[in-house]
Amino acid sequence: MNEYCKKWGLDPNKLPKHVGIVMDGNGRWASQKKRPRLFGHNEGVKRVEEITEFSGNIGIEALTLFAFSDENWRRPEEEVSGLMGLLRWFIRKESKRIFENNVRFRVIGDRQKLSLDILDLIVNLEQKTSSNTGMHLCVALSYGGHGEILRAVKKIVAKVEVGEVFVNDIDSSLFESCLDTAGLPALDMFIRTSGEFRVSNFLLWQLAYAEMFFEPAPWPDFNMEKYVHLLNEFSCRQRRFGLTPEQKIPPTFNASKCGLL
Ligand code: IPE
Ligand code: IPE
Ligand code: MG
Repeated sequence: MNEYCKKWGLDPNKLPKHVGIVMDGNGRWASQKKRPRLFGHNEGVKRVEEITEFSGNIGIEALTLFAFSDENWRRPEEEVSGLMGLLRWFIRKESKRIFENNVRFRVIGDRQKLSLDILDLIVNLEQKTSSNTGMHLCVALSYGGHGEILRAVKKIVAKVEVGEVFVNDIDSSLFESCLDTAGLPALDMFIRTSGEFRVSNFLLWQLAYAEMFFEPAPWPDFNMEKYVHLLNEFSCRQRRFGLTPEQKIPPTFNASKCGLL
C-alpha cells in the first residue's frame, strides 16, 4: 500500500483519479490581513506546490488547478500583471522539481492571450515533461469552459469540412478528444475553496458526473488536513451514473465510453 495513503489514513482504491480545484479566496484572505491582494496570490502559490506534491504522492492521476480565468483578464492591470509575474516565477522555480517528480505538465485555456515569453516557458516545460509517467498537472490559465467547448466545436467542424469526420460520427469520445483535457481521466472530484457555490466557467463539459465539494476556507488556508478530509468524504460517496443503488458499477466503467454522458 502507498505509504502516504497509509500515513494519512486514505484508502488508495477509493481515491478520485482526476481532481479539479478552483483555487479561490486569495484576495479576501489578504484583505482580511490588511495586505494587498497580490500577497494572497503569493501565499496561494505555496499551497499549489504543497497540494501538487501531495496529490502525486498519494497516487492521484490528474490534478487540474484553476489559476486564471478568461474573465480574470478584466481585473485591474496591476493585478493581472502581478499574477502573470507570479506565473513566470513559479514555472522557472518549479520546472526542475516538476520534471524530477515525474509530473506531466500541461496548460489548458486560450493560449493566444498569453505573452510570448510565458508561452515559451509553458511549451518548454510541457515538452520536457511529456515523457514522464507520473501525475498530470494541468494548469487552467486564461481558461473558460465556454471557450474550450467552442475551440473543440471549431476543430470538429474543420474535420468535417475536409471530410475526415462525418457528422454522424460525432460522439462524446470524439468531442472529448478535441477538448484541452484530451487524454486525461474523467474528472471525478471538484473542489472550490472560499465558500463560493459556483463553477465560474471551470471544466463545464468535464463536470458532468464529478462529485462537488465546497470548502469554506480560502485557498491560502487550504492545507493537507482539509484536503484529506474532503478525499475521505469522496471515498464515502456512492456514485451511480444514473443506475440504481443496487446496480453495481463495473470497475472498468467509463462514463463517457458507455454513452451515459
Ligand atoms: C483566486 O483568488 C485567484 C484568482 C482568481 C487569480 P481571488 O483573486 O479570486 O480572490 P477573492 O475571491 O477575490 O478573494
Ligand atoms: C475563479 O475565481 C477563477 C479562479 C480561481 C482562477 P473568480 O474569483 O474569478 O470567480 P468569480 O468571479 O468569483 O465567479
Ligand atoms: Mg475570487
